[in-house]
Amino acid sequence: MNCNVFMKLIGTLRMSDSKHHVVGVEFLKQNGLDVDELIKELVINASVEFVAYYYFTNLRSFCTGLEGEGIKGVIEDARLEDLSHFESCIDRIFQLGGEFPKDIVDFCQKAGADFLQSDRSTTLHEILEKCLKAEQGAIINWNKICKMTHGKDPMTYEIAADILAEEIEHESWFLELLDGRPSGHMRRKYSGERPHTGKHSRALGNL
Ligand SMILES: [Fe+2]
Ligand SMILES: [Fe+2]
Repeated sequence: MNCNVFMKLIGTLRMSDSKHHVVGVEFLKQNGLDVDELIKELVINASVEFVAYYYFTNLRSFCTGLEGEGIKGVIEDARLEDLSHFESCIDRIFQLGGEFPKDIVDFCQKAGADFLQSDRSTTLHEILEKCLKAEQGAIINWNKICKMTHGKDPMTYEIAADILAEEIEHESWFLELLDGRPSGHMRRKYSGERPHTGKHSRALGNL
């Protein structure tokens, strides 16, 4: 083989073996973003949304009787939007260089959401209190991501801001049910509508 052709071939192989710059992450660091810290917070938030989706499934099921029937629909809307919130951050975590824990138990423990557990003895009032606490925790979580990314990472900021918008709506629904504080609650056209995050969770299609 011609020496020049061989050297060219080796050069080509080296190029294909080497890691490339991830411009989509490097510019974030230049913008002053702590990318590792952001990934850590996003994985925690994803865990909270995933676990809340599971626990809200039980909370919804324990809304029984005439009074429970109305509450069930509100919890169902919030439950399916938590699934949307989990789906909304998956792409971004991997784009940033992050990933989820190998063990789902490790993942779920990050949520710290044991307070959402319920069974048949849980009263409707207790169910609403648990839902409200979950929504208020989510508001704090997503507001933190908004503050970390504002002016530095427009993609993550947009996702976090859209999730935050839905969490604020959810809080207002449960405050209305608990305290009679009017929420201006315009019901979803259908459960899983997710008006703010639908564009980030397209994998779910039309729930
Ligand atoms: Fe959520
Ligand atoms: Fe929520």
